[in-house]
Amino acid sequence: MRDVRAVSIDVIQAVLDGAPLNDALDHHRDHPRLPEIQFITFGVFRFYDQLQALLALLLNKSLKAKDRDIEVVLLIALFQLQHSRVKPYAIVDESVKLCVSLKKVWAKGVVNASLRRFQREHEALLGELVQSEEAFYSHPQYLIDRIKSAYPSDWQAILDANNGQAPMSLRVNTQQASRDSYLASLKNAGIEADVCEHSTAGLRLRSAVNVSALPNFSEGAVSVQDEAAQLAVYILAPKSGEKILDACAAPGGKACHLWEYEPAVRLTALDVSESRLNKVRENCTRLKANMQTVCADLRQYSETGFDAVLLDAPCSALGVIRRHPDIKTLRSEEDIASAVALQAEVLDAAWRCLKSGGRLLYATCSILPEENSEQIAAFLARHADAREQPIDASWGHAMAHGRQILPGESAMDGFYYALLVMA
Ligand SMILES: C[S@@+](CC[C@H](N)C(=O)[O-])C[C@H]1O[C@@H](n2cnc3c(N)ncnc32)[C@H](O)[C@@H]1O
Repeated sequence: MRDVRAVSIDVIQAVLDGAPLNDALDHHRDHPRLPEIQFITFGVFRFYDQLQALLALLLNKSLKAKDRDIEVVLLIALFQLQHSRVKPYAIVDESVKLCVSLKKVWAKGVVNASLRRFQREHEALLGELVQSEEAFYSHPQYLIDRIKSAYPSDWQAILDANNGQAPMSLRVNTQQASRDSYLASLKNAGIEADVCEHSTAGLRLRSAVNVSALPNFSEGAVSVQDEAAQLAVYILAPKSGEKILDACAAPGGKACHLWEYEPAVRLTALDVSESRLNKVRENCTRLKANMQTVCADLRQYSETGFDAVLLDAPCSALGVIRRHPDIKTLRSEEDIASAVALQAEVLDAAWRCLKSGGRLLYATCSILPEENSEQIAAFLARHADAREQPIDASWGHAMAHGRQILPGESAMDGFYYALLVMA
């Protein structure tokens, strides 16, 4: 079995090379100490900007690019010294030993001296970070600036929520059992949960568990899904016999919920990615859900006459940073601009699929106005036959167009919805 810290170094380096953290972890899913590897790697990316700022204070000169592995050893140790229950002497000792196994004996002194200095002077060093927003809030500055400008009163709460841990929420497959009876099954299994306030199928666990511990998970009794994502179905309100398109469906969370809510719909789940569409098919098999799957670029899809289209658009995912803290490191301003351009194109394409009088629900897991309210304003300006139907809800905030949930509000992920109707 490979050492937890050695595996964590590989995972962190893969992310720094551009891989999403969950993909990098996929190579180690059967490691017996995966939870510890996840704790370290998620933690390092949650506090990446702060840890980098500390490192800059601790090192007299920055390490060479070829010694990024040593930098990662230090980032892991600085994270553990602040957030883990491992004894500090063991963290320093193991970090120094890692230099040897990485065949960089020369680094032992630097690692030892830096970590011991952090132990001695951590209060003063952490105090210095107050000077830099980037270090203090552990977000890249461009993101802090954008969030601040969009939410002048809420930006600090958003940044704090982004650095917190998301709860594990479930969606009960109400074709198999009621939420109350599944809650009772959880209780019998010794798993504590509460009902969600806004989704009638939702349950929130008090502590996360492995899905294999969830009663009848493999038989399709339940799925893991944040409450904010579950709200799509209640807004779209699918009716028996309707022809419905989930235009960006993979991995199928919302499409399967649509079917669980109303199995008598004629549902098409479309996605551009065949490999991601396979996840929709796997979910359908597990949940015993029935829908047609289509692999196509929505912009080239020619089927029309849908009563309703759900467009859960590709986005920056800045509303789900607490679940994917690597987004802060991986996402760039250019990525956001590309997402905004693609969203406009898929919105226009989704509109072409609707029949007259049909409805389109636009959703993102972003909090940026350019992907949400401003995107819908531009759409309405392009389409004279579109009108917005305000979403009447007790969750989130009414924006100039659509409704926005901010990360952590009612324990939910950051999410955006806007409902459009064709004249
Ligand atoms: C936010 S995810 C959808 C999540 C999904 N609705 C769920 O609830 O599980 C966005 C999806 O859009 C797909 N996508 C991106 N560009 C697309 C395009 N041009 N046509 C169709 N699908 C696209 C991506 O492959 C991705 O699976």
